Amino acid sequence: MNQYVIEGGKRLRGELQIGTCKNAVLPIIAATLLNEDITYLKKCPKISDVFTMIGLLKELGCQIEWKDETLIIDTRNVTSTHLDEELVKEMRSSIILLGALMGRKGEAHVCTPGGCKLGDRPIEMHIDALKKMNIEITNSSDDCDHIDCKTTHLKGAIIDNFKLPSVGATQNVMLAAVRADGVTIIHNAAKEPEIVDLQNFLRACGAKIKGAGTDTITIEGVQKLHGVRYQVMSDRIVAGTYLVAAAITRGSITLKNVHSDQMKSTLDALKAMGCKIKTRRNSISLKCPNELNGIDLVTAPFPDFPTDMQSQFLALLCTCQGTNSITETLFNSRFGTADELKKMGANIEVRSIKNEDGKYGRNKEVSVAQVGPGNPLHGAWVHAPDLRGGAALVLAALAAEGTTVVDHIDYIQRGYQNIVEDLKKLGANIQEMK
Ligand code: EPU
Repeated sequence: MNQYVIEGGKRLRGELQIGTCKNAVLPIIAATLLNEDITYLKKCPKISDVFTMIGLLKELGCQIEWKDETLIIDTRNVTSTHLDEELVKEMRSSIILLGALMGRKGEAHVCTPGGCKLGDRPIEMHIDALKKMNIEITNSSDDCDHIDCKTTHLKGAIIDNFKLPSVGATQNVMLAAVRADGVTIIHNAAKEPEIVDLQNFLRACGAKIKGAGTDTITIEGVQKLHGVRYQVMSDRIVAGTYLVAAAITRGSITLKNVHSDQMKSTLDALKAMGCKIKTRRNSISLKCPNELNGIDLVTAPFPDFPTDMQSQFLALLCTCQGTNSITETLFNSRFGTADELKKMGANIEVRSIKNEDGKYGRNKEVSVAQVGPGNPLHGAWVHAPDLRGGAALVLAALAAEGTTVVDHIDYIQRGYQNIVEDLKKLGANIQEMK
């Protein structure tokens, strides 16, 4: 297995262009099943999760090819409704194909999805919502691992079972609804920018859908969609990761092809820690002072502080004064990074607390990581526990004294296309060892 070898201690400086967003492009690739036509996705990222999604569509009978950075997807022929089990187990977003296949074929057979191990990741909201659309759903195995979905008449419905705003469940219903008979209204929908981008894509294909970005989305089913040339939004989490890379090395950075309105809570946290931030139309510049203030952060659905930036800030807090904390309210095992950071000298204690008054959303317990006061980080051999946690270890290594080896980097490569080249451009000493 390959590793990243990082020599810490260099202040990062420079400018980077941010690429296309993984969490927006995956549901959009799934959505192409609905237009029965040819779609051109410009500047599509060449990351392993995209390759997995391509593999899943190919197994269904779609023709897909790359022309330089454009992904060309021809979904005129879909010959199967069975999703390849091995590929589904590789990636959580394969569950989105359920809604798309129902809209296209009225039938789908899938096993429960894999993905980063962040704790419990149930799919009951997806299933209960799809059932409301006149879809019959059964488990075809004793261990409930296989789900069979079938409908003779896909119908619009009022979706009012979202106890919390799930990104994936919202996307699944949007995909099932665009070609259903009648109107679907999703209440308590997720408001993430990736949901807005999916709406923009579906509209460009001829769908009638409005409300994405608010908590109510209304979809009026249409009979037919068409192909389109589309540029998916840029990756706000990759952008946030590189801002933290500059901050953790007390450097400075300018990011191009970014939208500050999609990253407000991340920028607010960096500002509160003392970073100077300037935003322009499509760019963000950050300058970091030598000493950063601490902060107490709580993850929550958009527009609040994103769980996908939690690990990177955990690494950053290891370089701050005093005792600081992060409360993770969405995923109950997303502090795998903490044990690895401890190997690098970090002083972190993770504990569960009861969410008695519902202050932290719907989960009965949430995890809190208390960080510092600590010693300076030093190099160590560490394992990427998941995608963002792996990226966070790379950031910690940039700030550490000495050499760090980060292994299990296949996690990181699921979501960061050019992390080595990008960080080298900023002056980092990082190599991939094969
Ligand atoms: N949930 C349920 N039941 C469900 C669905 C979700 O209880 O049926 C809970 C989850 O357990 C979690 C919360 O709802 O506590 C939010 O999960 P959500 O469904 O919104 O997450 P997701 O769709 O599985 C996407 C991103 C994640 C990101 C989360 C939250 C993709 C492919 N994944 O996951 O991204 O952390 O939204 O913003 O879009 C990553 O990129 O590293 C990543 C993990």
